[in-house]
Amino acid sequence: MDQHFDPIIVAFCCWHCSYAAADLAGTSRIQYPTNIRIIRVPCTGRVDLIHIFKAFAEGADGVLVAGCLKGQCHYVDGNLKAELRVIFAKRILESIGIEPERLEMVFVSAAMGAEFASIIREFVERIRSLGPNPAKLKKHGQLKESTKSRE
Ligand code: FES
Repeated sequence: MDQHFDPIIVAFCCWHCSYAAADLAGTSRIQYPTNIRIIRVPCTGRVDLIHIFKAFAEGADGVLVAGCLKGQCHYVDGNLKAELRVIFAKRILESIGIEPERLEMVFVSAAMGAEFASIIREFVERIRSLGPNPAKLKKHGQLKESTKSRE
């Protein structure tokens, strides 16, 4: 694990719950890594495959989709639809040689500030242990060089 690697994490957070949980963590002064770039969405049901893959293509090392607790989505089942998309996206990632562990769906309520911070800490550590997004390295021509250096 490269302790110097500072991953970039894109987190699509539902406005009603996980975004509020991130806010609560902040106002409660609960610290979590600053690697996360939050994109607020009205509901995780709004997060489509194109958003997830665009985040990876633009250089994210990990992507988190954080929605309301199951049964508490303000749009009935947007979070469940998002969960299915995430499962499908993981399969696609795997098929193109990107670790599916770089993508995760989590469910938090607005009152779960401490849990949200803990999720972020664990996810950042997971991505740190995986290393940089291979698609990013390939885009910048570093994959070839790093492969060569191992030969
Ligand atoms: Fe939060 Fe749908 S409103 S996931």
